[in-house]
Amino acid sequence: MDLIDPFGRTIRDLRISITDRCNFRCTYCMPEEGMQWLPRSEVLTFEEIERLARIFVEGFEVDGLRLTGGEPTVRAHLPVLVRKLAALRVPASSASPFAGKKPDLSITTNGSMFRHMAHELREAGIDRVNISLDTLQRARFLQMTRRDELDRVLDGIEAAKEAGFGPVKINAVVERGVNDDEIVDLARYGRDNDVEMRFIEFMPLDAGGHWLSGKVVGQDEIVAAIHEVFPIELMPARGAAPADRWRYLDGRGTVGVIPTVTKPFCADCDRVRLTAEGQFRTCLFATTEFDLLRMLRDGADDDALAAEIQRAVGLKWAGHQINQVTFVKPRRTMSQIGG
Ligand code: GTP
Ligand code: 5AD
Ligand code: SF4
Repeated sequence: MDLIDPFGRTIRDLRISITDRCNFRCTYCMPEEGMQWLPRSEVLTFEEIERLARIFVEGFEVDGLRLTGGEPTVRAHLPVLVRKLAALRVPASSASPFAGKKPDLSITTNGSMFRHMAHELREAGIDRVNISLDTLQRARFLQMTRRDELDRVLDGIEAAKEAGFGPVKINAVVERGVNDDEIVDLARYGRDNDVEMRFIEFMPLDAGGHWLSGKVVGQDEIVAAIHEVFPIELMPARGAAPADRWRYLDGRGTVGVIPTVTKPFCADCDRVRLTAEGQFRTCLFATTEFDLLRMLRDGADDDALAAEIQRAVGLKWAGHQINQVTFVKPRRTMSQIGG
């Protein structure tokens, strides 16, 4: 049975945050110090994640699961979870291209540990990987992530390619005055390394509260900067994915922009989220959560969990209001929601 929200959008994609912890401290996502990690007892176990994922995939025909964090690769025994999720099956009767098959499994990571994990994750059943890389300059990488690990991330990207993930997408959050002078360099990196570079508009979910609308570099500006050096043309409509995509006219790949702030794509949104502590969120910017962890641990059966999920989706809003005075910043940081 499909999960459909009040605006007629069918939910197809579940983003599962598997830990709130991270080995980086990106300025646009976390404070330098003082993050209070969840006690392990309050984090969903693999069995609990599997059980909820089964309800989404086998019950509600959700055909995409993306693992996020914090940093998902810091969770111990991650391949064990991936194998459990890879054993799920989208109902054969579903209209999904994945009908009768395992759902599309993907992960969003900072890449710093991917050299050691790429093969095992691929074998366990991850299909696609998105890796964050905001700069190619070592000093700036240290400034933005508060870790001196640029080389390890670049090597992690290589490892992802070698392991056969396709496509490998690279996420760069663009912040004015911080890395906006590197748009063309990052685009060139994507072309030269055969990965899809995606530029992300800076969103107001940073822990330090230093987001200002003036720090957002909008899609039009990003596209113009690239086009001036490497001419591009817009590709056909993107469907529910957040990135608009362009192809390089010389045939050397594609580039994307995720325009959350200047061109919200909420009307096509097909996603919902689960936080590491089992809170169900129907929007990245939601201010209401539904406590599935408590239900699980109080012994709720699958029907009760499914009913709560349907209730939550029935309350999903049209979209965020970042550009309006009515916008309320969620209590959580990006790292606590899962991006
Ligand atoms: P694909 O399936 O590869 O298209 O993944 P994705 O781009 O949805 O996922 P990823 O984890 O790489 O996220 C890239 C950026 O898009 C991050 O900054 C996310 O926070 C943002 N993003 C992902 N989903 C949503 C969404 O539903 N709404 C908004 N506003 N931003 C989103
Ligand atoms: N604005 C936009 N994107 C962000 N990300 C983290 N914080 C922000 C923010 N404030 C991105 C990360 C990662 C993805 C999960 O979310 O760079 O690629
Ligand atoms: Fe969906 Fe909310 Fe993101 Fe809009 S802001 S695309 S409604 S998750």
